[in-house]
Amino acid sequence: MSTPSTDAPARPRILSGMQPTSDSLHLGNYLGALVNWVSMQEDFDAYFFVADLHALTVPTDPEVVRRRTRVTAAQFIAGGVDPERSAVFCQSHVGPHPEVAWILACQTAMGEMNRMTQFKDKTAKGQNANVGLFTYPVLMAADILMYDAAFVPVGEDQRQHLEITRDLALRFNQRFGETFRVPEPYIPKASAKIMELTDPTSKMSGTNSPDKGILLLSDTEKQLRKKVMSAVTDTEAEVRFDPEAKPGVSNLLVVHSTLSGRSVEQLQADFAGRGYGDLKKEVADVVVEAVRPFQERMAELLDDPAELDRILARGVERARVVAAATTDRVRDAVGLLPAAR
Ligand code: AMP
Ligand code: TRP
Repeated sequence: MSTPSTDAPARPRILSGMQPTSDSLHLGNYLGALVNWVSMQEDFDAYFFVADLHALTVPTDPEVVRRRTRVTAAQFIAGGVDPERSAVFCQSHVGPHPEVAWILACQTAMGEMNRMTQFKDKTAKGQNANVGLFTYPVLMAADILMYDAAFVPVGEDQRQHLEITRDLALRFNQRFGETFRVPEPYIPKASAKIMELTDPTSKMSGTNSPDKGILLLSDTEKQLRKKVMSAVTDTEAEVRFDPEAKPGVSNLLVVHSTLSGRSVEQLQADFAGRGYGDLKKEVADVVVEAVRPFQERMAELLDDPAELDRILARGVERARVVAAATTDRVRDAVGLLPAAR
């Protein structure tokens, strides 16, 4: 992985998105992705969007799609994305995403999509396979390439999608001349992967984990405490970081450490001779403390839907400028006539 350089004259561009597929982001989204967005927005020209078109690959009630799209955008901001600095917008508000995806789809081999592990996993778990789900990675490639993004900060689970994006960009450039910037994934090695509380060998997931296994950023203090206090640990009594042998205790240490800023070694020393009850109580305190300001900001944003709309309108205005320029380039490259404006 190459590290983004911050001393270039113009700030390099970063872009990332999340799907609005649940009623709240969970602690894994926050610690695994959102905190990186927030720290990177200082040094990069940042674009963050709600991947509402991607969310349609899962059949959902339209009212629910609307609600979750607003909540997801509000949670980006409540989590620290600064809309004055970064463009926050809805994917579907930038017209050319599906257009560029179509053009890229016509350069993509069936076999390349057949290899995508996320599609294989989702269909193996019984999700019905519509064509949208199959071509999901092509739309994601369009999302990224349309913004000339230098870096794409995501979790490890998105690596394969970034590889196909790079392949498509390189192929397109070779066939049609230099059109796209080839992006680099930005997957910080140290970024936390948060596991389910009920089964600490599975990743905490908004769509697959049971309620009791996920800490939602919208949970009440009581719910958060209850979930942490019931987290599955093991039959020993020693607080020790050992993800193989002690996945439950290790996960609690990671949550504590990433939120409190204290190292896992320090925590281990602090908890020497103390039981799991003490550890859980302290983790619950740290989680509640972290979630409180987030929820206060969330309440303000949801109380003032007009302000959220203004933020999204400003964001999309910035996004459209960049997207229009690349889309013109792409259309011209493949031989589509310019449309009258
Ligand atoms: P998703 O909810 O799968 O759309 O994920 C949105 C973002 O959060 C992606 O960048 C993921 O890599 C990240 N993410 C999701 N679940 C976790 C988790 N349990 N731990 C760390 N990062 C996660
Ligand atoms: N597939 C990503 C996820 O599930 C969401 C996404 C869609 C995305 N388009 C993107 C992420 C472009 C980064 C860049 O998390």
